[in-house]
This record gives sequence, C-alpha cells and structure tokens, in this order.
Amino acid sequence: MCGIVGFTGTKEAAPILLSGLTKLEYRGYDSAGIAVIDSGTINMVKSPGKIVNLYNKTHNGSDLHGFTGIGHTRWATHGVPNEINAHPHMSEHGNIAIVHNGIIENYMELKEFLISQGVTFVSETDTEVVVQLLEYYYIQLKDLRDAIFKVLQVIEGAYALVILCKDYPDSFVVARKDAPLLLGFGDGCNFVASDATAIIEYTREVAYMEDGEVAFITKDNIDVYDSFGQPIEKEHHIIDWDISAAEKGGYAHFMFKEIMEQPEAIRKTMSPRIRDNRIVFDDLKIDKAFMEKVDRIYIVACGSSYHVGMVGKYNMERLLRVPVDPVLASEFRYSDPLVTENTLIIVISQSGETLDTMAALREAKKRGAHITSIVNVVGSSIARESDDVLYTWAGPEIAVATTKAYSTQLTLLNMLGLYFADMLHTVEESEYNKIVEEMQWLPEKIESILQNTDQIKYLASRYFNHNSIFFIGRNLDYALGMEGSLKLKEISYIHSEAYASGELKHGTISLIEKGTLVVALGTYGPLFDKAMSNVVEVRARGADVMAITTVSHADEMQKNVDFAVAVPDTHLILQPSLGIVPLQLFAYYVALQRGCDIDKPRNLAKSVTVE
Ligand code: AGP
Repeated sequence: MCGIVGFTGTKEAAPILLSGLTKLEYRGYDSAGIAVIDSGTINMVKSPGKIVNLYNKTHNGSDLHGFTGIGHTRWATHGVPNEINAHPHMSEHGNIAIVHNGIIENYMELKEFLISQGVTFVSETDTEVVVQLLEYYYIQLKDLRDAIFKVLQVIEGAYALVILCKDYPDSFVVARKDAPLLLGFGDGCNFVASDATAIIEYTREVAYMEDGEVAFITKDNIDVYDSFGQPIEKEHHIIDWDISAAEKGGYAHFMFKEIMEQPEAIRKTMSPRIRDNRIVFDDLKIDKAFMEKVDRIYIVACGSSYHVGMVGKYNMERLLRVPVDPVLASEFRYSDPLVTENTLIIVISQSGETLDTMAALREAKKRGAHITSIVNVVGSSIARESDDVLYTWAGPEIAVATTKAYSTQLTLLNMLGLYFADMLHTVEESEYNKIVEEMQWLPEKIESILQNTDQIKYLASRYFNHNSIFFIGRNLDYALGMEGSLKLKEISYIHSEAYASGELKHGTISLIEKGTLVVALGTYGPLFDKAMSNVVEVRARGADVMAITTVSHADEMQKNVDFAVAVPDTHLILQPSLGIVPLQLFAYYVALQRGCDIDKPRNLAKSVTVE
C-alpha cells in the first residue's frame, strides 16, 4: 500500500526513482509520481494508472534532471486516483514537495485553517494539507527544520513522509509515525524507501526508522533525530536475501514462483528449529512457568494470516487443551478484549506492517499481555514491538496473494503449538514424535503435488467461467476452505464463500442450484464421513462438486463427486499444509484463464497500512 522512494547522490535521480517505484509496484497502487530538484526548481511528473505511464511521460526519466528526488505509488484513500490526487504534492508557492504514506486524521480541521489563511488547495487529499502547512510555517519561521518539527506536532494520524525543499537541492527530509520507512546507506548516495526491494539494487545497508524519528539526508550523511529533536545513532542492518528473490526468475508470475518456492521456504523455516527430532525455539523468551499460567491464547491477524490462526485454534486446542481464539485484528482492537498478564497473544503478519494488526498488538500490550509474533519481514514494525518474534524464512513475497508466507506461518504456528505441548506435557511422546517426523516430510510431499499440476489446470479450464463458488469443509477443512476461497476471489474476482459444511443447511444451501460449483474439502480424516454427507446434500441439489481429499480417502470421495484431487496423507494436524497447495494452484490457473492481473489484483495492496 503506497510505496515511497527517495534518492540523493551524484547520478540522475529520475531513472533511479522509476526503477525503485517499479520494484514497489507489488505493494498495490493506482497512480504514481516523481519529483526531482533541478537548479532550485522542483519538477514533478504524475499519472494515474501504472508506472509505465511515468516512463512514457518522462522518456524513461531522461526528461527530468537533478540528483535529488522523491517518488511515490499511491493507493487511493482520500480522492479518486487521478493525476491531481497522485503524489508528490507541491505547496502553493512551489517551495516544497512531499510524498506520504498513511492517513492524516485531522486534515479537515487543518485544511479549514489554511483556507482561512488564504491557502488554495488543488487536490482532494489529506496529504496536500501537510505540504501546505509546511510551507505556511516555513514562510513564517524561515527555517525548514523548525517548520517540519512544528508540522509534526500538529498533524495527527499515520505517516511516512518524504520532503523536498527547493532551497535545499542536495537533500531531503523524512519522518515516520505508524507507517514503514527505511533508510538506505549507499556509496556517495543515500536512499529512503518503504521497503528494501526498492533499493537493494544499490545498497544492502539499511536502518529502520522508528515512530517519531526525523532524518535529514544528503548524499554523504544521514542525521536522525528523535521526536524531541535530539540526535540519535541508528543501528545498521544488512539485507541478506538475494536480489533474485525479488525477481520472477523466468516464471510468468511472482505468485506461481512463490507457490513453487513453498517446499524450500518451509525447509528454511523449519530446519533451524528442529534438532535431534525435537523442536527448539532458542530465541523464545516464554518459559514453562509462564505457559503454566496461560489461561487463554488469542491469535490476532488479518486475511490469510488470520486463516492460519483458524488452523491454529483447532491444532493448539487439541495439543494444549487451553482456549485458543483467532481474532481479526481490526475487530480485536476495538472489542475491549479480555486480556490479562495470563493471556498469550500470538500475532501473525507476513509484512509485519499491517496497521490493524499493529494497533491490536499495541492494545494487547497495553493490557499486559505477552506478545509473540510470527512475521516474515525482518525488522518490520510488528517484529520490533513484540516481546518475542519468530521469523518465517519465506524470503520476500511479492505477489499480493500470499502463498509461501501462509505456508511458512502455518508450519511455524504448528511447531509452536507442539513446542508448548511438549513443555506442558499435554502431548503423548509418541504423538509428538509422529508429528515432528511428518513435519519434516512436508516439503517433499508438497513437491510431489507441485510436480503434478495437470489435473488442477484442467479443472481450472473447466470452471473458470463460474460466477460463484462455494468452499465447504469441517474443522481444519473449514479453515482451509476460508483460505482457498480468499485466494480465488482476490485474484480471479469470482464471488466465493467458505462455509463450515454443517452450517450449509442453516441458510446457504438455498444458493445451491444446478451447476453451482462447490469445492468440497475432505482432508480431515476424523470427520470425513460427516463431510461426505454434506457433499451428498449439495449434489442432490444439482451442484458440481470438485473435492480435495487425501490419497487414503480418494476412492471413497470419487464415488460422490465430479472430480477428486488427492494430496498425500500426513498427520492430521498438518494436513492443511498439503491441502492448501491445490487450492492455490486452482486460484492461480482460474485467474490465468480469466486474464486477470494475478500479481497485482485490483484494489488490493500487499501491505495494508491504513485502517
Ligand atoms: C492474502 O492473500 C492477502 N493479500 C491478505 O489477506 C493478507 O494476508 C492480509 O492483508 C494480512 O497481511 P499481513 O500478513 O502482511 O499482516
């Protein structure tokens, strides 16, 4: 969601900004723009739609000259995605241009004040208020630094801001509150970006901005100050993933590449945490004394990460016999949650920047809970604010629809549940051993599914024209269906819903008619027969049924459905890790048949940094 890049150095800024913005496309956006300072003038080019429009408008950046500039991809909130509302925004007298990620909550009040002072606005955005206010104070105070600190005291909301001032042609200023921003240290040049993908081509040395910090950036220096204006030293980190991880590497889409990377991603997540067939979490602060006191576990997350939490509920309750509640982060934060110091909060987030999840984390922390997070992006806000962070080592995930991050989150959550169960002796040793052994077979078993995609491809070509698709399943298969349905709808734009099979007869079955496609999940062995009864019910009403089941249940399933896709058997708590793969592939191939923009579905963003 909104991507930011800034550069100052000894090379032309525009091509660097355009290339950085292209790398940030995956975050989701609907307009884009860049601004570069040339001989004391800020020149701006903006456009609705894709970044290719900026390349065309500027002849690949060659029309804009200057060594310092800022760029932005905008995911519209206030005002439609047109050229005027696109960032950068320029102040009325052309002194200052800014790009902004986040939302200024008191923008109306500030706008009214500025209008009363004679300032004219051109856009519908909240961001323009910041740039106009900055110019207003800059003219009054005659000092950019003072004006910036003044503005930061006045604005409320979330922001990652990058500020260009025509009077400082060799520098820019950045400020952060509740929106991601990192500083990049180059050789004779420096950067700022929403995430490392934008700048890794130029530097691997970064520092993560914290809330309240402001940085003044020239090609030779980055000076960082806290919210009181005191200088601070930032810890430098080295990005250790390879640039190829953020490239398609011959695949048509990032999503397909990432589906294919799942076996390796799971291996990387799992193997450092299994020693002599025992799960170890060296980095975890939680001990047995704490776990013995825990009387409730909340798993707080959004979207697919929440679906991982749904699987976690079934598995952790089974293993630990403690109530486990998955809660949508956006609901949790406003629900006056029942959190005490005996509550364990597990936060799950691929990006580590999801605003709803971040806010829920803070709410729980305020109430005294211990926060353990499962995060993919190293150094992200959620990782930094948690008491414990467990990283999924999935590598950068570029496609908006998550696949390998989901799978590694699932692996890690299952491992954590089993680790706690071992600690509390709530799992039989033989069961523990069996699960750990089966876990280590997951990558091979997923590989075997990925080697045989023809049946799924065929099913996608058969069903891609459907308008509405239902996913049904019980227990873990219900959680699996939620994720399968989300994958399908987000990238193919087909209406889809997931139901607990037993719930169908309480209303939804009225929607089933001749030819309705139902994807029946029958991978959860203990309730297979029950699930079959529900399959029979929808078939009796004319539904086409495509099933996902296990090899051991395939024959039985095939008797009652049109098509049955079989995944290898594993321990039942791990079965969703295999069941999800054909569902991801189905969504992918359906979207491909429908000609959708698979990696960047409409209206969606990879990292959702607004409420
Ligand atoms: C999944 O395919 C979606 N793109 C989305 O639901 C995502 O899982 C959700 O926004 C949460 O993101 P996070 O894991 O980065 O917090």
